Amino acid sequence: MARAAQLFAALAALLAAAAAGGDAPPGRIAVVGAGIGGAAVAHFLQQHFGPRVQIDVYEKGTIGGRLATISVNKQHYESGAASFHSLSLHMQDFVKLLGLRHRREVVGRSAIFGGEHFVLEETDWYLLNLFRLWWHYGISFLRLQMWVEEVMEKFMRIYKYQAHGYAFSGVEELLSSLGESAFVNMTQRSVAESLLQVGVTQRFIDDVVSAVLRASYGQSAAMPAFAGAMSLAGAQGSLWSVEGGNKLVCSGLLKLTKANVIHATVTAVTLHSSEGKALYQVGYENEGGHGSDFYDIVVLAAPLHLDNSSRSIAFEGFSPPTEDAQGSFQPTVVSLVHGYLNSSYFGFPDPKLFPFTNILTTDFPSFFYALDNICPVNVSANFRRKQPQEAAVWRVQSPRPLFRTQLKTLFRSYYSVQTAEWQAHPLYGSRSALPRFALHDQLFYLNALEWAASSVEAMAVAAKNVALLAYNRWYQDLDKIDQRDLMHKVKTEL
Ligand SMILES: Cc1cc2nc3c(=O)[nH]c(=O)nc-3n(C[C@H](O)[C@H](O)[C@H](O)COP(=O)(O)OP(=O)(O)OC[C@H]3O[C@@H](n4cnc5c(N)ncnc54)[C@H](O)[C@@H]3O)c2cc1C
Ligand SMILES: *[C@@H]1O[C@H](CO)[C@@H](O)[C@H](O)[C@H]1NC(C)=O
Ligand SMILES: *[C@@H]1O[C@H](CO)[C@@H](O)[C@H](O)[C@H]1NC(C)=O
Ligand SMILES: *[C@@H]1O[C@H](CO)[C@@H](O)[C@H](O)[C@H]1NC(C)=O
Ligand SMILES: *[C@@H]1O[C@H](CO)[C@@H](O)[C@H](O)[C@H]1NC(C)=O
Repeated sequence: MARAAQLFAALAALLAAAAAGGDAPPGRIAVVGAGIGGAAVAHFLQQHFGPRVQIDVYEKGTIGGRLATISVNKQHYESGAASFHSLSLHMQDFVKLLGLRHRREVVGRSAIFGGEHFVLEETDWYLLNLFRLWWHYGISFLRLQMWVEEVMEKFMRIYKYQAHGYAFSGVEELLSSLGESAFVNMTQRSVAESLLQVGVTQRFIDDVVSAVLRASYGQSAAMPAFAGAMSLAGAQGSLWSVEGGNKLVCSGLLKLTKANVIHATVTAVTLHSSEGKALYQVGYENEGGHGSDFYDIVVLAAPLHLDNSSRSIAFEGFSPPTEDAQGSFQPTVVSLVHGYLNSSYFGFPDPKLFPFTNILTTDFPSFFYALDNICPVNVSANFRRKQPQEAAVWRVQSPRPLFRTQLKTLFRSYYSVQTAEWQAHPLYGSRSALPRFALHDQLFYLNALEWAASSVEAMAVAAKNVALLAYNRWYQDLDKIDQRDLMHKVKTEL
């Protein structure tokens, strides 16, 4: 199956080359970063340019990036991105293509903690839930759902455009093609402002919407409406993750494309030219010292942000618009705690009676965003969740590492604590303009899309866009770049 798809892609590349007047395919391509963005773009680039193009993927840390696991008590648990929306179509395709499986779902109950008591509890009975939401928040709940669904429905158009080969050179062009100026506006207005406008009450925003945004982005309802809507969609739809660990998608895609993974930190990209075409020299560092290599196409598949731990990449011989591409990131600490929950803290003196597995918070207990009783990445058929009075593995998300006193507040006692400190998401509002995917002729910035919405699927969408953009630019197929009115065009095309 994969073999046939590759042959077909190669043939398509040859035909396209012939149609474009026999232009040769690119010789070598560099991808910086082996997270989902880098792994997916390597796969899509190969799909479009054919199996003969050589793809080097540079990675300074571990394959998977923000998809990662930590081992606790001989089992592995997700320490980065945990789950995806069911309509994550590229991710669903990858899982099928790689012969991976969805992890078995183990049911649990969620609740929102307001500092003294739970402001919202999920019950076992669906209708009672709706009734309670209705009782507390009136029609707000339905209005929120309609708002989120409308955004999702328009966003899903991207899959159709991509299937027809269309690409966008900037985030603004991509968003306008999906939802006109309203989508671009949603990257500038806040979630709260947009929701109030469609008639959602302030109380619902404070109690429910803010809690979901805190748990997924560590940010408030003042964050931009577009990213907010995407994360609220995640809170409504059914979620899934990959059996064995989400990062298996990254390593799987890199193996499938036979990409050459180079463990090194890219420090510079220098522009040269050869026969009128741009040629990029990628400079890197590793234990072996410095090195460099030449490429026809370079994709930056990592955030270009200004924090002190990851020095940004220097550009020499040219100045692509990157000052504009920088902004700061939101740190999030994930602590995996193996221990006994202090249910008293949540108002349940008897631990046996504590009914919740996922706890979201409103602003009050400001030292953590969310607390989840999590299952290992391999869930066997006879797996059962731990009873609330038993020791379990809890995942705590917080803005800063937890102090011992804070751990002692949340847990009666614990065996171990392991932490992962992430630069998790863009700090929305820390930059003004939306960045561009095309930084130079054949130099691309995949993570530009993170500035509209930061999720694993968004990065897969950006990867497909960048691969198409590189391909359409290489063969001068300008009709497939930044087209307007695509809804109409794709309807009338074969
Ligand atoms: C705690 C947490 C929870 C999250 N939860 C979810 C969730 O539930 N659902 C969801 O969809 N998303 C979630 N996200 C967001 C999601 O993880 C990211 O949007 C996505 O994984 C980003 O993928 P990426 O490939 O673009 O970037 P990354 O995964 O960051 O990959 C970039 C890679 O580039 C490497 N790199 C950087 N600079 C260089 C250099 N100069 N040279 C060489 N290599 C370099 C890095 O080491 C890294 O491996 C979460 C994120 C975090 C941190
Ligand atoms: C977007 O914002 C601009 C200026 O703020 C405004 O003129 C325009 O009407 C808005 N468009 C939509 C669809 O909301
Ligand atoms: C976990 O699941 C993955 C994917 O199905 C599998 O390859 C791996 O062997 C499993 N590991 C264990 C310990 O069961
Ligand atoms: C980064 O380093 C500079 C100087 O070395 C310092 O002034 C700045 O506060 C640091 N920024 C962060 C986010 O740590
Ligand atoms: C548990 O929570 C209660 C109530 O907040 C607190 O008094 C107690 O100190 C916490 N810690 C332990 C170990 O019980």
